[in-house]
Amino acid sequence: MKSILIINGPNLNLLGKREPLLYGSESFEDFLNGLKQDFPDLQIQYLQTNEESDMVNAIQGAQGDGAEGIILNPAALSHTSIAVADAVAAVSIPVVEVHISNIFGRETFRHHSFVSRYAKGVVVGFGLDGYRLALHHLLRS
Ligand code: DQA
Repeated sequence: MKSILIINGPNLNLLGKREPLLYGSESFEDFLNGLKQDFPDLQIQYLQTNEESDMVNAIQGAQGDGAEGIILNPAALSHTSIAVADAVAAVSIPVVEVHISNIFGRETFRHHSFVSRYAKGVVVGFGLDGYRLALHHLLRS
């Protein structure tokens, strides 16, 4: 695998400032810079969006843009969006769903993700390390 796309959903642009006890104090940009340094031969594309339609379009377009796998944190859209779930079901490249926090230890409305049944796998509750775990998996698949 030479190219992967990371997509983060609504409010994840605030990582580092948003509820740090739940989501940590590192910005995603800083984390991503470290990840790129650790995987210099891998092209890591990144999109953060607060818009459901942008997320659907990015999932649909990933393969055409050269990505061989997607790491997707749909954030709140996990719990609400059949459109995002349908997009994940529609693509033929593997999609690993990541949640920074342990959604099963939180409010019950976070326990269900429409996306999970179509994801290759789900990484939950390991903070930003979850993206690294997902990447290691994709690189071996
Ligand atoms: C989240 C969990 C979601 O319930 C929440 O809406 C988020 C972030 C996570 O990464 O832990 O925005 O996806």
